[in-house]
Amino acid sequence: MPSLDGKKILVGVSGGIAAYKIPILIRLLIKEGAEVQVVQTPYSQNFVTPLTLSTVSQKPVYSEFFEQNTGDWHSHIELARNCDLMVIAPATANTLSKLAYGQADNLLLAVYMATPAPVMIVPAMDVDMYNHPATQNNIKILSDRQNHIVLEAEEGELASGLTGKGRMPEPETILQEIISFFQKKNTLKGKTFVVTAGPTYEKIDPVRFIGNFSSGKMGFAIAEELASRGAKVHLVSGPVSIPYPNHPAITVHKVVSALEMHDAVKKLFPESDGAIFAAAVADFRPVSTANNKIKRENKTSFEIKLEKNPDIAAEMGKIKKDNQITVGFALETDEGLQNASKKLVSKNLDFIVLNSLKDKGSGFGTDTNKITIIDKGNKKTVFELKHKRKVAEDIVNHLVSLLK
Ligand code: C5P
Repeated sequence: MPSLDGKKILVGVSGGIAAYKIPILIRLLIKEGAEVQVVQTPYSQNFVTPLTLSTVSQKPVYSEFFEQNTGDWHSHIELARNCDLMVIAPATANTLSKLAYGQADNLLLAVYMATPAPVMIVPAMDVDMYNHPATQNNIKILSDRQNHIVLEAEEGELASGLTGKGRMPEPETILQEIISFFQKKNTLKGKTFVVTAGPTYEKIDPVRFIGNFSSGKMGFAIAEELASRGAKVHLVSGPVSIPYPNHPAITVHKVVSALEMHDAVKKLFPESDGAIFAAAVADFRPVSTANNKIKRENKTSFEIKLEKNPDIAAEMGKIKKDNQITVGFALETDEGLQNASKKLVSKNLDFIVLNSLKDKGSGFGTDTNKITIIDKGNKKTVFELKHKRKVAEDIVNHLVSLLK
């Protein structure tokens, strides 16, 4: 069976010279069994005609909201909702900027704004436009967006005669990216994972608690990444102020304290293929919780006696079966590698993700993270500072490599 059998791909063409290669891409997609619908910007018709595109795609090509002669309306919503993947190739500097900032002054942009489908963007332009901080910033905005893949432009000879980065990858390369996108989507089909996220709150009295600054962003990004690859996810989340993921394969279990998180994970873990412990669980809880608000009155000091919370990751490490994978996090301020390696062993984890509060942009509350993955054999892989969504991809890639 062809690798893209029955997949509906919406190809959006904007007005750059590389547009002349799009008919070849469409042919390749159709050969692989895909159904292709083309939307092009009016300006791109200067580079590749609607006739060429409709001939190769075997469908009418749309570039206006209305058909001038007949007054027929092309619903951007219908086009947007009727595809498994939108590929915007080539994406010019102008189109990239509009995609990044949500302008919708042509049909292609309106379809982009309306699509729930994943989007692959293939920038192509001259070297200076590509390297311009505005373009690089737009590429970053789009790469950080959920369900967006931005392909890197290639180095080489450009239509202007200049040499540098800005070439659109060849149609065969784009095709491979599309095929691996769909393959990746199913890599975790049939698997179930438990993900812990956020802080825990340990109650002192009805209005006060001991907590921490964890936002839940890292754990939520991991849950979303697992689900996007076909896994079922039980997301056990402490109290957070960010929105819960809205994916049909993610079940959210809301908990408050470490004991509640422990109970939830204990029930879910045995039936799972593994767990990723991204929560910042309070190590201790008050021995007792006051029924009424504790009054300041004439106290000059005040002590709270604490007792130890269960170590959820370590406990699951003890009952873990051979076919289950567990992943922990270590947020360290000093001696990071040594502490993380110790935790890897003591919690019987398959790998641990170290992030240091010393790295700018890492740790609690930020949108970015800089991680090092430490394996059982003490092999270390250092990653760049990235958006937490991209960090989640690296972590899940690592997990997938261990499943094989
Ligand atoms: O020991 P430490 O708290 O640094 O370990 C961090 C790792 O252990 C994280 O993956 C965290 O989610 C997990 N953990 C846990 N239960 C605890 C404490 C930590 O699951 N009580």
